[in-house]
Amino acid sequence: MSLPVPSLFFRNAAQLLTLAGPPVPRRGKSLAELGIIFGGGVLTLGGKILRVGRTADLVTEARRRKAKVIDCRGRVVMPSFVDSHTHLVFAGSRVNDYEARLRGATYEEIARSGGGIQYSAQQVQGASVPELVAQAEGFLREFVAHGTTTLEVKTGYGLDVAQELKILEVIHRLRRGWELIPTLLAAHALPAKYANRRDAYLDCVARQLIPAAARKRLAEFADCFCDRGAFTVDDCRKLLRVGQQHGLIARVHAEQLQRTGATKLAIELGAASADHLDHVNAADIRSLARSNTVATLLPGASFFLGLKTYPPARRLIEAGAIVALASDFNPGTSPTSNMQFILSLACSALRLTPAEAISAATINAAYSLRRADRLGSLEPGKQADLIVMDVADYREIPYYFAVNHCVMTVKAGRVIWKK
Ligand code: NIG
Ligand code: FE
Repeated sequence: MSLPVPSLFFRNAAQLLTLAGPPVPRRGKSLAELGIIFGGGVLTLGGKILRVGRTADLVTEARRRKAKVIDCRGRVVMPSFVDSHTHLVFAGSRVNDYEARLRGATYEEIARSGGGIQYSAQQVQGASVPELVAQAEGFLREFVAHGTTTLEVKTGYGLDVAQELKILEVIHRLRRGWELIPTLLAAHALPAKYANRRDAYLDCVARQLIPAAARKRLAEFADCFCDRGAFTVDDCRKLLRVGQQHGLIARVHAEQLQRTGATKLAIELGAASADHLDHVNAADIRSLARSNTVATLLPGASFFLGLKTYPPARRLIEAGAIVALASDFNPGTSPTSNMQFILSLACSALRLTPAEAISAATINAAYSLRRADRLGSLEPGKQADLIVMDVADYREIPYYFAVNHCVMTVKAGRVIWKK
């Protein structure tokens, strides 16, 4: 039996970022509209947002409902982050790859010599479900302490039907305590034992893994790593279509290392999101702008790999694409659970404004996960997922970079973390 959710009254926020707006994804100029209320307050009830407004206008009702008062004087209150692209479940780390890269090897060279995703797959194979759950929970506590309360979680380090189902089981167990959205990423790397039998692996995924994941309701989305050294556009089309036939919505890792046409595939399939996009061309940008496929940018990966190429974020925004930001948390290319640092990268490397970065990491990310009706903004009726940041001006969140500004995290109306 869980305790009833108390009513909370957050009062006197120096800036309350509501992100209130029409129920459509934020494109172009609307990406920078944060719906700020100075001296704002939020009243929650039963895990949801009851009212949002100027503090003075909420005081009487808060008193009548005997809400617990949380004074936010001098601070920023905003929706908690929605991280729409993570590879949360893995075993051990890849510090060896990290050092090898610093000594000159590239990500793809390491992958070809047995490191990379194949190495993580070996580690997962040797780990039990409880061990994988425990490691992931340690990371989740860090995410929450840095202000993220909803995460999309991909499989992908199984490289085998039984191991992928094991990871789905790990995610399923984690969902008892955390709001996670499961994605089956069966086509992440070609397993070593299928080195010369690519079609056999694809068949196995299509005939066994996707149907099993869908039947057990362990995945909501299906993803593919469509890139040089991974899977081709045709491979991914085939698998993502099978996924759709089983009710899994498509997402695509697209144009990270090279332009392959994966973005066009994502749009053709009506995918929820095309992610990375470092190498998109002008036609891809135009097509994304005309589509409802979210362009999810992952600057943590370019940063951590020490690359000079970042996705053309400004061109995407100005063309009218729906831009989201995510951590890409994974052991190989972006081991950070701090979305605030991703905002700093989005500003300094991608040239987003702080306001654009905040919308991209909240409301637009919620759209890409098909949860914008419930998450991503502070509006009456939405889930009370919010954070209190120890800054007086929201622009200081990316500005004072690589530190944690979050002093309180609230999930469904409960304080789940406090500094
Ligand atoms: O999103 N691009 C493919 N997948 C991950 C990296 C996975 C890994 O190297 O372990 C990514 O960057
Ligand atoms: Fe990824």
